[in-house]
Amino acid sequence: MLFWDIKHPLSRFLLFLTSLNLSHFPRDNITENRDIHLDWDAAQAKANAFVARLNLTEKIHMVTGASSIDAGVCIGNIRPIKRLSFNGMCFSDGPAGVNRAELVSVFPSGVTAAATWDRDLIYQRGIAIGEEFKGKGAHLMLGPAVGPMGRHPLGGRNWEGFGPDPYLSGASVAATIRGVQSTGVQTCTKHFIGNEQETQRSNTTAPDGTIIPGISSNIDDRTLHELYLWPFTDAVKAGTTSLMCSYNRLNSTYACENPKLLNDILKKELGFRGYVVSDWFATHSTTSSANTGLDLEMPGELNPYGAGALPGRWYFGDFLLRAIQNGSVSTDRLDEMVSRVMVSYYLLGQDDNYPSVDPSTIAVIVANEIGLPMAQKIGFPFEVVPARDVRANHSSLIRQIAVAGTVLLKNVNSTLPLQKPKYIAVFGNDAADITDGQRTDNYGYDIGTAAIGGGSGTIRLGEIISPLDAIKIRAKRDSTQVKYTTNNAVISAGNFQGIYPLPDICLVFLKTWASEDHDRVSFELDYNSTQVVENVATWCNNTIVIMHSAGVNTLPWAIHPNVKAILAAHYPGEQSGNSIVDVLWGDSAPSGRLPYTIPKNESDAAAPIANQTGSKDWQADFSEGQLIDYRHYDANSIEPLYEFGFGLAYTTFEMTANLSVKAVKQNPPETPDSARQIEVGGHPDLWVELLEVETAVSNTGSRPGVAVPQLYISFPSSVPEGTPVKVLRGFEKVQLEPAQSKRVTFKLLRRDLSYWDVVSQTWTLPAGEFVFRTGFSSRDLKGEAKLKVRGV
Ligand SMILES: *[C@@H]1O[C@H](CO)[C@@H](O)[C@H](O)[C@H]1NC(C)=O
Ligand SMILES: *[C@@H]1O[C@H](CO)[C@@H](O)[C@H](O)[C@H]1NC(C)=O
Ligand SMILES: *[C@@H]1O[C@H](CO)[C@@H](O)[C@H](O)[C@H]1NC(C)=O
Ligand SMILES: *[C@@H]1O[C@H](CO)[C@@H](O)[C@H](O)[C@H]1NC(C)=O
Ligand SMILES: *[C@@H]1O[C@H](CO)[C@@H](O)[C@H](O)[C@H]1NC(C)=O
Ligand SMILES: *[C@@H]1O[C@H](CO)[C@@H](O)[C@H](O)[C@H]1NC(C)=O
Ligand SMILES: *[C@@H]1O[C@H](CO)[C@@H](O)[C@H](O)[C@H]1NC(C)=O
Ligand SMILES: *[C@@H]1O[C@H](CO)[C@@H](O)[C@H](O)[C@H]1NC(C)=O
Ligand SMILES: *[C@@H]1O[C@H](CO)[C@@H](O)[C@H](O)[C@H]1NC(C)=O
Ligand SMILES: *[C@@H]1O[C@H](CO)[C@@H](O)[C@H](O)[C@H]1NC(C)=O
Ligand SMILES: *[C@@H]1O[C@H](CO)[C@@H](O)[C@H](O)[C@H]1NC(C)=O
Ligand SMILES: *[C@@H]1O[C@H](CO)[C@@H](O)[C@H](O)[C@H]1NC(C)=O
Repeated sequence: MLFWDIKHPLSRFLLFLTSLNLSHFPRDNITENRDIHLDWDAAQAKANAFVARLNLTEKIHMVTGASSIDAGVCIGNIRPIKRLSFNGMCFSDGPAGVNRAELVSVFPSGVTAAATWDRDLIYQRGIAIGEEFKGKGAHLMLGPAVGPMGRHPLGGRNWEGFGPDPYLSGASVAATIRGVQSTGVQTCTKHFIGNEQETQRSNTTAPDGTIIPGISSNIDDRTLHELYLWPFTDAVKAGTTSLMCSYNRLNSTYACENPKLLNDILKKELGFRGYVVSDWFATHSTTSSANTGLDLEMPGELNPYGAGALPGRWYFGDFLLRAIQNGSVSTDRLDEMVSRVMVSYYLLGQDDNYPSVDPSTIAVIVANEIGLPMAQKIGFPFEVVPARDVRANHSSLIRQIAVAGTVLLKNVNSTLPLQKPKYIAVFGNDAADITDGQRTDNYGYDIGTAAIGGGSGTIRLGEIISPLDAIKIRAKRDSTQVKYTTNNAVISAGNFQGIYPLPDICLVFLKTWASEDHDRVSFELDYNSTQVVENVATWCNNTIVIMHSAGVNTLPWAIHPNVKAILAAHYPGEQSGNSIVDVLWGDSAPSGRLPYTIPKNESDAAAPIANQTGSKDWQADFSEGQLIDYRHYDANSIEPLYEFGFGLAYTTFEMTANLSVKAVKQNPPETPDSARQIEVGGHPDLWVELLEVETAVSNTGSRPGVAVPQLYISFPSSVPEGTPVKVLRGFEKVQLEPAQSKRVTFKLLRRDLSYWDVVSQTWTLPAGEFVFRTGFSSRDLKGEAKLKVRGV
């Protein structure tokens, strides 16, 4: 969702560059479980009592957002009702921290969190993010995102979510929601569903005035269940209080007025008890939306101070009032809408002493848009007050997550970690602090490190530790010299003019910008990246490439003999420099694994962005079904450059070839017990453990390290066509000292072993033999076992 900054989300960033913090930080062990008990029934009773006290106007207000100084100053507001001591609700962006705010932390993005493959770190990230929203007085965080998943490698928002594998994405979103909601802040899991590209994501108006509808994602029932809906199911099960319906159409009906999607699947099948909120301006009707399951329209009624810049109109408010009065929407339905909003509020105890909204919020938003001096000059009605500092000590956690989400892709002859080099040359626009620079929609700012992407998921970079700054400080300890050159200088001075003597180590920092509102146009990293690496590698035998990227890239230079090491550091957040220094010098080991596949050639990757420019009815048939990312490479026997799940360490690991698979429940029935009631998260039987798979992993190298053993399963041949060759169904992150060995157990639930039968409309356990494989990536499989789950 975007607001005023629809075209240039980063254009007016104010950068407050502050001093470096290089202090050592503790390594946290598994966090205590801080989950709060979610008592939906008790919250429901309170919500019903609240609804019973409202008059009709107030009910309409509860389901129609509003923006005005009276209603609230957040990007989404529910008006207060003074007579009931209800202070309203404040909704803020986005999935990696509080956007449009000052004195907040910039957390690693979703794709970085997923690359850690570490449920505990992701949980801690959720707690810290939640604390910052709460500190700012926001009742709801507009995130996490699990849509887009990444059907298209170039999708503009893929980095906001947890990647294209439903199991990894589902585990990540669940840990995030538990973490955020443990602080009392609501989550809004988005974008529901099929919002896989930005191009024509919503309706546009052609020059001749015709309205061209948003793209229609046409997704078959089984693909929806086994792929795109999967992580949303985990989100509902984890207790997410709201879901955001997306801009696009699904099967030609807008997601925010799609009855099958919202009523049948989300509310009935998944047992969702919270509310559905529209993406900003994604509502297209009054009666249909209300009757098909939309519970709250955002941003709703527009505001006096920004209305001119806002597109579209609203559909609830007085329009909903009329629909109630003429009987086309029932009062019962209106009451249900309000109670769904309030059940979420009571569920997390937000009626009890919730912090007020940081009064600096409005000033920060306006400053972002037109600049504070101009705003004051034209008499905007706000007071400039100091912002609340909500950062606490989150920087050390941010640094730890960034290290854990950095993937070592290549490390010839143990070039890394560095061994006190005499002279390091640092190259690339991505190494330095952010300058205003040239900015285009495709490439972001030219000079400056990419710590996070753009759009509503961005965060103001109040404090950013650039790689160059951190490298200089670390290098000083060993009296290492450091020299820096930008991309253009490397290209125009291809003969290494000015570089003397030849460096021992050349660090090339490359980036890929991505933002809401447009898809990426290139697989290669930005700013002539290939030429930059080639020019450096021509002269420098120890070239190390570090990428700060939104996700999938092609790396035509990866096999160059002088490119000795490659690190995919994703969008690391504000501690970018400190975290990469930890990895480069080996103070910490990079322990990330790829949450997506890197192709040898862009023609190997699946599903380009649908571009039907000129059409008046954009249709995207998801005809590849479930075969996205590694499933596509498997099904078509394409060799990737670096596969899903891959990542090296500073040590080596081994895994046993024999695994034990044992049934926890003997001979389970084919389908869940139809006599049992649906609960939050769907049929309770789907969450029952059926099997355990055990393997053992050991550290065979000389340094401590973190292994990520993974479990993939292949379904029996009795399953219908379109089934992936194999799917991820388990992972663990295991810290190992040299020569240490640990057993790893993966627990498989009924859902993990079922396919969605479109005829019976049930998750079904297939007959026949499953194959279980454990390994270190989707292509590096060490152990294998076979077992029938049914009929044994
Ligand atoms: C984490 O646990 C390990 C062993 O389980 C212990 O040696 C270490 O001191 C702990 N670290 C912290 C920061 O508590
Ligand atoms: C509902 O209550 C509000 C006060 O919260 C009041 O201003 C309004 O007039 C009432 N509306 C009706 C229709 O009674
Ligand atoms: C999108 O469609 C809605 C009607 O469904 C309309 O109100 C709005 O102006 C349209 N926006 C654009 C940019 O075409
Ligand atoms: C979308 O259409 C496909 C193909 O007809 C169908 O399998 C699927 O169930 C539909 N999904 C929804 C939510 O209507
Ligand atoms: C009732 O009101 C709604 C909202 O204004 C309008 O869309 C609808 O056409 C009306 N229906 C009838 C039967 O008047
Ligand atoms: C941050 O501070 C809290 C208490 O203030 C402490 O419990 C926690 O361990 C600290 N975390 C880190 C990563 O330093
Ligand atoms: C790795 O190091 C060894 C020993 O120094 C050397 O012989 C070999 O050529 C190196 N390999 C590469 C690819 O640089
Ligand atoms: C790529 O390099 C050329 C010079 O060779 C330069 O003109 C162009 O602006 C560069 N492109 C980008 C995106 O930096
Ligand atoms: C660097 O590598 C090239 C081959 O790529 C080799 O010819 C040259 O001798 C090496 N230079 C040094 C200084 O090691
Ligand atoms: C990538 O594939 C395209 C089309 O198949 C081909 O023309 C091109 O040479 C390939 N590039 C590389 C680097 O292999
Ligand atoms: C879609 O096609 C149009 C017209 O060819 C082009 O201008 C635009 O850049 C394309 N968009 C994307 C995301 O590729
Ligand atoms: C694998 O086999 C060895 C030797 O028989 C045994 O000690 C070990 O427990 C087995 N590992 C697993 C995971 O079953």
